[in-house]
Amino acid sequence: MPDRAGRLRDALLAADFTADGLLELLGASAYAALARSETVPALRATRADGPLATLVRLFLLQRPVPYERASAVLPLDEALADGWVVEDDDGGGGQVRATVDVRPYGGPEGQDWFIVSDLGCAVGGAAGASGRGEGVVLGVGGASTTLAGITVRTPVASALDLGTGSGIQALHAAQHATRVTATDLNPRALEFARLTLALSGAPEADLRTGSLFEPVASETYDLIVSNPPFVISPGARLTYRDGGMGGDDLCRSLVQQAGERLNEGGFAHFLANWQHVEGEDWQERLRSWVPRGCDAWIVQREVQDVTQYAELWLRDAGDHLLSDREEYAARYEAWLDEFEARKTRAVGFGWITLRKSGAEEPSVVIEEWPHPVEQPLGETVRAHFARQDYLRTRDDAALLADHFVLAPEVMQEQVGLPGAEDPEHVVLRQNRGMRRATKVDAVGAGFAGVCDGTLSAGRILDAIAQLMGEDPVLLRDRTPQAIRLLVEEGFLEPATRV
Ligand SMILES: C[S@@+](CC[C@H](N)C(=O)[O-])C[C@H]1O[C@@H](n2cnc3c(N)ncnc32)[C@H](O)[C@@H]1O
Repeated sequence: MPDRAGRLRDALLAADFTADGLLELLGASAYAALARSETVPALRATRADGPLATLVRLFLLQRPVPYERASAVLPLDEALADGWVVEDDDGGGGQVRATVDVRPYGGPEGQDWFIVSDLGCAVGGAAGASGRGEGVVLGVGGASTTLAGITVRTPVASALDLGTGSGIQALHAAQHATRVTATDLNPRALEFARLTLALSGAPEADLRTGSLFEPVASETYDLIVSNPPFVISPGARLTYRDGGMGGDDLCRSLVQQAGERLNEGGFAHFLANWQHVEGEDWQERLRSWVPRGCDAWIVQREVQDVTQYAELWLRDAGDHLLSDREEYAARYEAWLDEFEARKTRAVGFGWITLRKSGAEEPSVVIEEWPHPVEQPLGETVRAHFARQDYLRTRDDAALLADHFVLAPEVMQEQVGLPGAEDPEHVVLRQNRGMRRATKVDAVGAGFAGVCDGTLSAGRILDAIAQLMGEDPVLLRDRTPQAIRLLVEEGFLEPATRV
C-alpha cells in the first residue's frame, strides 16, 4: 500500500492537482466560492476535458467521471482495489466515483500535500455531508489552519496530535518531530489520518484510538496539539465537534491534564471554547484551568452571544436546511435551554498555549485580542514565552542595566488633529505577528526610538531626563514598568536575542 499511495500521489501531482494548480484552473472567484461551500462555479470551470478537471470533479466535487477519463489520469486498477474510487452503478456503467474527498493543501514550505476526508466534507464542512452520521470526518477548516499556524515549529523528538481527524496537524508535526502520535475517539478518523499522511508522502504516525489522553496515559511529549471537539452544545451529536462532556468541561480537562503529558520545555497548543458565566470573570475561569508548572498564554479571539453561537453550529450541521421548521425551532430551543441551565451568557473562542517551565511563579497571560494577526504565529508564540523567561529573571535594576532594540516591524504613528503642531498621542504599531498597537507617552516614544542596543536602558532614561528637564532618579523609578510591558508585548527585544 505505501508504494501504491506513492504512485497515486505521483499521478495527482503529474496532473497538477495541487493548491496552485487548482487556483489556476478554477480562477480566483470559483476557488474562493469553494471555501464558502459553493461548488457551482467550480463545476462550470471543470466542464472541459483534461486531467486536472477530471480529478477536481472526482475528488473535490463528488461527480462521477467516465472510466476512460479516470484511467488516463490515475493508476485506476490500484485505486479501485484500494477503495479510493468505486464503479458507479447509477451512471449506466462506464463511470467511477470517489469514496473520499481528497483536497490539495499547500504546506508552509510549498509542499504539495493532500488532506483526505469524508465525501462532501473537503469544501463543504459537515453541512456538505449532512445525514452522514455522527462519525463524519471533516477536512481542513479555519480552526485547523489557525491551530497549525500558532504551533511552535522548533524541531522536537515527540509530538502528539490529540483528536487528529483528517490528520492535518499530524502532517504538519511530521515535518519537525521525529515521532508523531495521533489519537482519535473515532476509529474512522485514524484511517483518514493514515491516508492523508501516506498520500502526502509523510512518515507513518503511531495511530491510537481512545478518548482524550487515555491512549497515551503513560507517555510524555515535547509538543501537544489539539483542535478538539470544543463546541458547547446541548448533546453529543457529531463526534468531530461535540465533546459530550457538558459545557466547556472537555476543553478544561484537556488543558488541565496536558501538564502531566508535557516534557520540560514542551509546548501544548489548543483551540478552545469557554463559557462566559453570569457573575463570573471569564479570565479567572481560564486561569483555574492552567496546570501547575506551566506558563500559559491564552488569547480570546472572539466572543459570541448564545444566539449567534447556536445559529453558527446549527448552520454547521446543515440544520438550517431542514424543511420542517418546527424541528429546526426545537433544535434551536435545545441550545438555548442548555445555555440557560448553565447560566451561560456568551461563549469565548480562542487559543490556549501552555509551556512547561516548572517555574515557581508561572507566567499566565490571559488577554482579549480580536484584531487581525499575521499567521503563521508559531515564532511569535515561541518568542512570547522566551521573553517571559527573560523578564522573570530581571528586577528593575537589572532591567535598567540591560540594552534593548526596537523590534524590526515596529512603526510609530502620531495621532492628533490635522494641522496640529504636536500629536495628541503616539502609537507604536507592530506590522507583523500579533500586530499589536500601544499608546506611549513622550518618554516611551523617545525611549523606543533610541533603542538600537548601544546604550543601556538606564543611560537612555538619563539622557531623556536631561532633554526634558526631569529628575533622572524619578524617571528611573517610574519607567521600568512601562519598559517591562513593551518587552512583554514584543515591541522591544533584549539586545541579546531571546
Ligand atoms: C474539530 S476535529 C479536529 C480535526 C483535526 N485535528 C483538525 O485540526 O482539523 C476534532 C477531532 O477530535 C475527535 N474527538 C472527539 N472526541 C474526542 C475525544 N474525547 N478524545 C479524542 N478525540 C476526540 C473527533 O473525532 C475529531 O476527529
